[in-house]
Amino acid sequence: MVKLQDVHKVYDNGTKALKGVSLTIENGEFVFVVGPSGSGKSTIIKMLIAETKPTSGKVLINGFDIGALRQREIPYLRRTVGVVFQDFRLIDNKTVYENVAFVMRAVGAPMKVVKKRVPYVLDLVGVLHKARRLPSELSGGEQQRVAIARALVNNPDIVIADEPTGNLDPARSLELMMLFEKINALGTTVVVVTHEKVLVNQFEKRVIAIDGGMVIGDRQGGYYEERYPGIYIPEDEPEQGEQTPETAEDAAPAYEDEPEETADAYEAYAFAEHEEPAEAEEPAEQEAEVDE
Ligand SMILES: Nc1ncnc2c1ncn2[C@@H]1O[C@H](COP(=O)(O)OP(=O)(O)OP(=O)(O)O)[C@@H](O)[C@H]1O
Ligand SMILES: [Mg+2]
Repeated sequence: MVKLQDVHKVYDNGTKALKGVSLTIENGEFVFVVGPSGSGKSTIIKMLIAETKPTSGKVLINGFDIGALRQREIPYLRRTVGVVFQDFRLIDNKTVYENVAFVMRAVGAPMKVVKKRVPYVLDLVGVLHKARRLPSELSGGEQQRVAIARALVNNPDIVIADEPTGNLDPARSLELMMLFEKINALGTTVVVVTHEKVLVNQFEKRVIAIDGGMVIGDRQGGYYEERYPGIYIPEDEPEQGEQTPETAEDAAPAYEDEPEETADAYEAYAFAEHEEPAEAEEPAEQEAEVDE
């Protein structure tokens, strides 16, 4: 369970990121957290894994009181919370299998358990056939799935995903949300932070809206711009603070440094579905390892 009581957060530079946030998330819930850039969403997540502490107020999660937590207790807290970071944070020189196995070993799981559990979660998120690949050999969507597998592998009580659909097209985003629904149906509490209004409204879930460091809405079943004018982002207009390019040429420089990579990533991604099954590496590897 997650409980925030009148939480304020003032960063060292004086930024008031949270201004009296109170909310409760019960075990087994599926919750979207929405709000504009800079509204305080990631600050809430960072508190839930004790990356930062509240300036005042109380943050409780899975029986841990973040404000009162000692350094040596943090690993115990983190075993109960799986986080999918926006930038994945995968280890480049480890394979998909090793990336996920690593976090199990880090909490002292026996090898036998690791060898059963890792293939199970990789399969759950649909990347078992990539078990021997390095993160650099995967598409953005696949890396995201590996990050999710890693967040799930220690069987946390709660999974928190910060902008998990940031790099995905609408179809992939929808697929990913359905994956989170599946995870939730298996009993895990799921909290998804996202900007994507259209996506959120495709699901009948609880939506907590944050703006200016405060909760401005909390309701079941999607959100509507007329209720929360502060977070309404018109479909074909720029987000707050974004510059509107005058011409197509003005918009182009943003892509100048990464044309090839972007194209490659897109190809890997666009054609992923058409890969031959022969390409799939079944977890013979795991089988073999067991007998080592
Ligand atoms: N370490 C930090 N030091 C100082 N200010 C910070 C720090 N981290 C975040 N902030 C500020 O706190 C406010 C809330 O930031 P936060 O990252 O929680 O926003 P967010 O809702 O996650 O935004 P986004 O949607 O862009 O990820 C912002 O004004 C931000 O600039
Ligand atoms: Mg953020």
